[in-house]
Amino acid sequence: MENIIRTKVKDLLKSEAGKDVLAKGWVRTKRGNKNVAFIALNDGSTINNIQIVVDKTPENEAVLAKVTTGACIAVWGKLVESVGGGQATEIQATEIEVYGECDPVRYPLQKKDTSFEFLRTVAHLRPRTNTFGAIYRVRNQMAYAIHKFFHDKGFVYMHTPLITASDCEGAGQMFRVTTLDMDNLPRNKKGGIDYTKDFFGKETSLTVSGQLEGELGALALGEIYTFGPTFRAENSNTPRHLAEFWMIEPEMAFYDIKDNMDLAEEFIKYLVKYALDNCREDIQFLNDRYDNELIARLEGVADTEFVRLTYTEGIKILEAAGVEWEYPVSWGTDLQSEHERYLVEKHFQKPVILTDYPKDIKAFYMKQNEDGKTVRAMDVLFPKIGEIIGGSERESSLAKLEARIDETGMSRKGLEWYLDTRRFGSAPHSGFGLGFERLLLFVTGMSNIRDVIPFPRTPKNAEY
Ligand code: 4AD
Ligand code: MG
Repeated sequence: MENIIRTKVKDLLKSEAGKDVLAKGWVRTKRGNKNVAFIALNDGSTINNIQIVVDKTPENEAVLAKVTTGACIAVWGKLVESVGGGQATEIQATEIEVYGECDPVRYPLQKKDTSFEFLRTVAHLRPRTNTFGAIYRVRNQMAYAIHKFFHDKGFVYMHTPLITASDCEGAGQMFRVTTLDMDNLPRNKKGGIDYTKDFFGKETSLTVSGQLEGELGALALGEIYTFGPTFRAENSNTPRHLAEFWMIEPEMAFYDIKDNMDLAEEFIKYLVKYALDNCREDIQFLNDRYDNELIARLEGVADTEFVRLTYTEGIKILEAAGVEWEYPVSWGTDLQSEHERYLVEKHFQKPVILTDYPKDIKAFYMKQNEDGKTVRAMDVLFPKIGEIIGGSERESSLAKLEARIDETGMSRKGLEWYLDTRRFGSAPHSGFGLGFERLLLFVTGMSNIRDVIPFPRTPKNAEY
């Protein structure tokens, strides 16, 4: 028996009966009667369990006593056609080895409480539940689909730095990176902190976006994308914000705002369709368990044309809506999730791409429109989420960009390397950022962003 190699549960469930097999995994449940035990075994390869049938004998009584929920076991036996409903095959066990016992009293996942709130407190064990197994498998498939989408189009995957001295979004939401002794900070002549003594010889932070470096890549390689961790010290305790999240940022030379919108729409539809085609069992489970409109919503987005309209038109609709907003809305205000969701869920009942926002609520790098008031920004708004993508055509004129940097009170000094792209062979170009966890909220139907990343970082929370 010992030299049989292990087969994953996913493959066992698709195999023909008759073979000797070895399965390894964690026990989900054990039930039975005085003659026979039924063990549901899961190894994470699929949402489905394989059933193990064990004839009880005096010899295996001691081993079976250790086979409790959560225990890790190896099972040798024969794959047979299942008599009970629910699965095609099951294992008639001949030998069981217990790798790791699991105390039935102390194991947290035994508890009746399976709320998301409780499971967040045991995030180190929650991947063992059906729900989180499904979510993490979908997350993995989506990461692969993102690389595949861009790779097939000939985009270059570019690695941008996580430690940086520039604040791309200009919002001052950066986590500082330093090796200075907090209890004994070096001071400069003016009494401020002397960052020349710090590790990098200047003030540095964790990146809020790889875009500025991505633009350098696009203006040499043509079409690039980044996909990596992003950090924002925004103190927003909402179901849609993380302090550490993953972002995908394509950046393309010679794309105007329309090309940018076309790519964003194609990209997101591709991902949703990929999920429907490749994560069917997991998504079906999430649909049946939590949100029975999930699959219909995904299918809806995959073959719907997104609505495109300007911010100014959007504001008119919101002002005429007759809704009592928590945050009042008028031309010039930044849209809140309630406004975005009204447009998408109530008014149009479709994803919406909103363009040409007031320049004062958008970052410095966006292409300025002739009107002097708006910039060529585009936000993609989604049902249940609000903003899922933010992007723009970039300002390619050196003079206009410099003027805007001055106007916003930023310093040109640290951005000379960025301005060089406009000095030397500037080109029209565009790009956008997709929040990976926001995409996952949409695809899994989960309602809290803390449940689509294995170890969420949020204000006052950095466990594990
Ligand atoms: O709209 P944002 O801030 O845009 C940028 O960072 C640009 N540099 C992107 C670009 O043009 N290359 O962020 C882009 C997206 C948002 O639409 C949202 O999906 C996600 O990133 N995002 C967050 N996701 C989770 N938690 C947060 N705190 C997020 N902040 C932004
Ligand atoms: Mg944004």
